[in-house]
Amino acid sequence: ETPNIDYVEEILKLKKEKNAVILAHYYQIDEIQEIADFVGDSLALAQQAAKTDADIIVFAGVHFMAETAKILNPTKKVLLPDLLAGCSLADSCPPEQFSEFKKKHPDHLVVTYINCSAEIKALSDYVCTSSNARKIIDSIPQDQPIIFAPDRNLGAYLNKETGRDMLLWDGACMVHEAFSMEKLIDLYQEHPDAELIAHPESEAHMLKVAKYIGSTSGLLNHVKNSDKKKFIVATEAGILFQMLQENPDKEIIPAPAKEDNTCACSECAYMKMNTMQKLYLCLKHELPNIEVEAELCEKAIIPINRMLELSK
Ligand code: 13P
Ligand code: SF4
Repeated sequence: ETPNIDYVEEILKLKKEKNAVILAHYYQIDEIQEIADFVGDSLALAQQAAKTDADIIVFAGVHFMAETAKILNPTKKVLLPDLLAGCSLADSCPPEQFSEFKKKHPDHLVVTYINCSAEIKALSDYVCTSSNARKIIDSIPQDQPIIFAPDRNLGAYLNKETGRDMLLWDGACMVHEAFSMEKLIDLYQEHPDAELIAHPESEAHMLKVAKYIGSTSGLLNHVKNSDKKKFIVATEAGILFQMLQENPDKEIIPAPAKEDNTCACSECAYMKMNTMQKLYLCLKHELPNIEVEAELCEKAIIPINRMLELSK
C-alpha cells in the first residue's frame, strides 16, 4: 500500500508524459471508467485499439482484451493492470482440446467470440463480439457449416436468430450464469413495471423472458432510447455506472444472483481485479506488459481483421 498518493492526479500525469491511452470496459470499477480516455464494449475497444496513435495502450479490462490490442499493435506496449485478470469464458476453451474438436469437423468454418485466447483466435476463420456476431455469421453462406466457440449461450441464441445449426463449443461465462430465476420472479413481483434486458451470454431461460437482448453497448443504447422508466439488467453490474449517468431519471436494478454468489448482483471478479493503485503502478513501471509471439500474432490477426472489416 502506497499512502498519500492521489491516484487520479498521478495517472493523468503519467498518461500525458508517456503518451499513453487508457481503454476501459464497462465492467470496470467506476473510478477507472471515469479516468479512462475511452470506455466501451469489446468491439468498440478493439476498434479503438486498432486506430490509436498512442505509444502505450493501458487496457483496463481482462487478459484476452489486452492480448487482442497487442495483436493489433505488435510494436506498441500494451499494459494490463493485473496480469491475473483472466476470463472464465476464455478459460473454458483450452487450445489443445479445441484444436482436436476442429480436426473432427474439417468442413466447418470457425467463428469465435472475442472472449478467447490468441491460440483460439489463431485457429479461427472469423472473430466476433456480441454486437456484431449476427452480422459476421450472416456474411457466411447459409449452407456453410460453422463451429461457434466458446460461449454455448451466445451460440444457442445466435442459432435461433440466424436459423442456423452451428456446432457449439460447451463454454460459458460464470458471471452471466449466476442469475437466479427464482429471485428474478420475486423482483418482478415487486416491480411489475420494470423491463428485463439481458446480455446474450446469459442462459436461455433468462433470454426467453428478456424484452431486449444485446451487448453492453446495445443495453446502454436501449435504456437511453426507451420510453420505459424502470429496467432490470442481466449483465455484469459495472454497467450500472454508465447507465445511471446517462439516465438519471430512470430506475435501474441489477438482476439478482443466486444465493451462493459472492454478491447480490453479478460481478466479474476478473474485471474487478483492476484497481486505481494497480493502474497507477502499471503506468509507472510499464508492467505487466502483454507479449504475444510473432507467429501467433500473424495467425490471430487474420480473423480479427475480418471482423473489423465487416464491422465498419
Ligand atoms: P461485450 O462488451 O461485447 O458486451 O461483452 C461483454 C463481456 O462479457 C466482456 O467480457
Ligand atoms: Fe469473462 Fe464473463 Fe468476466 Fe466477461 S464477464 S470477462 S466473459 S468472466
